[in-house]
Amino acid sequence: MDVRLSLSRRRFFGGVAAAMGVLGLRPSSSLFAQARTAQFTGSEAQYDAYVKLASNENNWGPPESVMKAMNNAWKYANRYGYPDGNIVQVIADHHGVKPENVLLTAGSGEVLQVVGTTYLTDGKMVLGSDPSYGSVYQHATNIKADAIKVPLDKNYRQQIDKMIEATNRHARDIGFVYLCNPNNPTGVIITAKEIKQILDNIPKDMPVLIDEAYHHFVDDPAYGTSMPYVLEGRQVIVARTFSKIAALAAMRLGYAVAPADMIARMRPYSMGSINALVKHGGVASLKDTQGQADIKARVIAIRTKTTRELEAWGYPVIPSQANFFMVSLGERTVQPVIEEFRQKNILVGRPFPPMLNHLRVTVGREEDMDKFLTAFKEIFPKKGGSTIAG
Ligand SMILES: Cc1ncc(COP(=O)(O)O)c(C=O)c1O
Repeated sequence: MDVRLSLSRRRFFGGVAAAMGVLGLRPSSSLFAQARTAQFTGSEAQYDAYVKLASNENNWGPPESVMKAMNNAWKYANRYGYPDGNIVQVIADHHGVKPENVLLTAGSGEVLQVVGTTYLTDGKMVLGSDPSYGSVYQHATNIKADAIKVPLDKNYRQQIDKMIEATNRHARDIGFVYLCNPNNPTGVIITAKEIKQILDNIPKDMPVLIDEAYHHFVDDPAYGTSMPYVLEGRQVIVARTFSKIAALAAMRLGYAVAPADMIARMRPYSMGSINALVKHGGVASLKDTQGQADIKARVIAIRTKTTRELEAWGYPVIPSQANFFMVSLGERTVQPVIEEFRQKNILVGRPFPPMLNHLRVTVGREEDMDKFLTAFKEIFPKKGGSTIAG
């Protein structure tokens, strides 16, 4: 099999705008100031009217337990030193590590940036899959570092063998390896066996960032968190977020778990400034295991129902383990389709080159998915052979 590694030189991909230029794409609406951060610039009423299935958010919002804890923390709004629910200790206990193994951040996006800033020095590159969560590569570009991107295989899986081969071949020039598990935008996992395979077959001192933003939605028994590798003292940084399972995306809370020496190296590059409300919300969320289980069960049930319906309509879906999925659009390219959905007041994914015939859709509430399916069937004709009903 050919090894099609793409070295994304910054002169070719100088930022989101340039990348879009290369691909001949444009931001689909002036309502959004920027492609990635997607700051909405329209009115609140406009925003509220959209069905929001574009950013893998949790459309149910935070559970009662989390809201209550946050509301209770308002009394600290005017303070600097205040009781913060011992969030770092609570996270450490949750994973069986020590507080010095935890770095608290404003969303896990900050972890990804801090790892980049810490380890992509002296011309070092990040190695990861393509497509994967683009913010890692975007940050590398921002700090004038390069990336080695290994394409997904034909089943949209990350090519572990190729990643091992490329890491070993370029070891001296690689600052860290990025593994998104489950991967965004596909929702496909790297199995626990594959994680072990990669860690056992690359240099022991190679930092590996394992992004578990969608960990909480996985029910495939072949998957496993990489937290135990931190306990073993491997050079592994695991990133987690409260944005998805706890529905706190706008509140900004995430963390890294890693060996103490790695955390100590990264800490000076983090902001270290998390607000009082979300610290208490995070603690409440970790304790509310029932609330987490409820969201997971809803997401899986609604994802299964929606994807079955799309497939019955003739449009294959990549099997996903996350709170989003990708549906094949056949011959149609995704950008005009996104626009058609927007005209129906539904926000869906963005282009993920080279998968330009796939649309990424977040799993929303039943009423969101009903609207999505109705719109999909208006935009796309039924395909394939006759069904029982037809
Ligand atoms: C794979 C992955 N990692 C990290 C993040 C960052 O999320 P946050 O900064 O809200 O924790 C996202 C957000 O969508 C993501 O998809």
